[in-house]
Amino acid sequence: MSEPTLPNLPTDTYGVPAPSRRPRRLRTSATMRNFVAETQLDPAQFVLPVFIAEGIDAPREISAMPGVYQHTETSLLKAAEEAVKAGVGSIDVFGVPTPEHKDFAGTQAWAADGILNKGVAALRREFGDDLLVMSDTCLDEFTDHGHCGVLTTDHYGNTVVDNDATLPLYAAMAVSQARAGAHIVSPSGMMDGQIRVIRAALDAEGFQDVSILAYSAKYAGAFYGPFREAVGSTLQGDRKTYQQDPRNAREAIMEVQLDIDEGADMVMVKPALPYLDILSQVADYSTVPVAAYQVSGEYSMITAAAQNGWLDREKTIMDSLTSIRRAGADIILTYWATEAAQMLA
Ligand code: PBG
Repeated sequence: MSEPTLPNLPTDTYGVPAPSRRPRRLRTSATMRNFVAETQLDPAQFVLPVFIAEGIDAPREISAMPGVYQHTETSLLKAAEEAVKAGVGSIDVFGVPTPEHKDFAGTQAWAADGILNKGVAALRREFGDDLLVMSDTCLDEFTDHGHCGVLTTDHYGNTVVDNDATLPLYAAMAVSQARAGAHIVSPSGMMDGQIRVIRAALDAEGFQDVSILAYSAKYAGAFYGPFREAVGSTLQGDRKTYQQDPRNAREAIMEVQLDIDEGADMVMVKPALPYLDILSQVADYSTVPVAAYQVSGEYSMITAAAQNGWLDREKTIMDSLTSIRRAGADIILTYWATEAAQMLA
């Protein structure tokens, strides 16, 4: 093997002096890099989103989200146990009712024996305060039309989501979740005024200590695709009349301000990776803790690329979570919560 030869160029680089600042000094070893790292990930601030499904007797893998399951109560408790062991701070429960249990108003959403409340109750019973039980407070899994609110006909004969008629249903749902044992309710429906109504209802029923994580800046977009399969969504069309337009940044700040004014204890930006600019602005602006939701589409993209051998799965998971944290998230919702916590251990 012959020695590689450098091209014959002047070593003084045309008279330019040697670099006077050398940032590479702080990258010379892993110990040095750890010493100067600005960003740390802590599993205590991870949230594992989970699905509990009615009418199944074994966990069912979601085809567009390999490694994520619709759970039975038994398998849910097992997944939660693994999460707790790994140090994950919270679990966010979504309910998947049978088609017969969906209706116009989503009444199973606030039924004490509805699938979501059953899951919440089982988790709280099993883990007490060792795991923060968060519940999704939204009707879309429970309505037969798949929208996040009830429908009405407007003055021109169009079917539209009725913001104000939906609010009391969210209040009922939040109270039922608090009763079931939720530490945190998480309204994700993007109806105007939802936080104020939910806070008032929780307080009126004696649940002053149940906190609210508001999905404040939630964008309508393509990244929720796999989630629709995960919850057996019946939605036709889209959610563009209530979720935010991906072209807009300013309204994210207004939504956050409104939610804080209405009583949100924590706010969220969703999705995460495609919206790091929004996350960064919200983190600068917010006076309450900020969460970011690494959504189904983000999970599926990385999983698919890794399955093809195009990306290193574990490294890419860590890169993505680190970026979300660096952009300003305190709390991260991720389907990799348990696995990432194990990697950090
Ligand atoms: C709606 C809701 C959605 C998600 C969380 N809550 C779907 C939507 O808004 O269409 C998406 C989560 C994900 O994609 O991982 N209640």
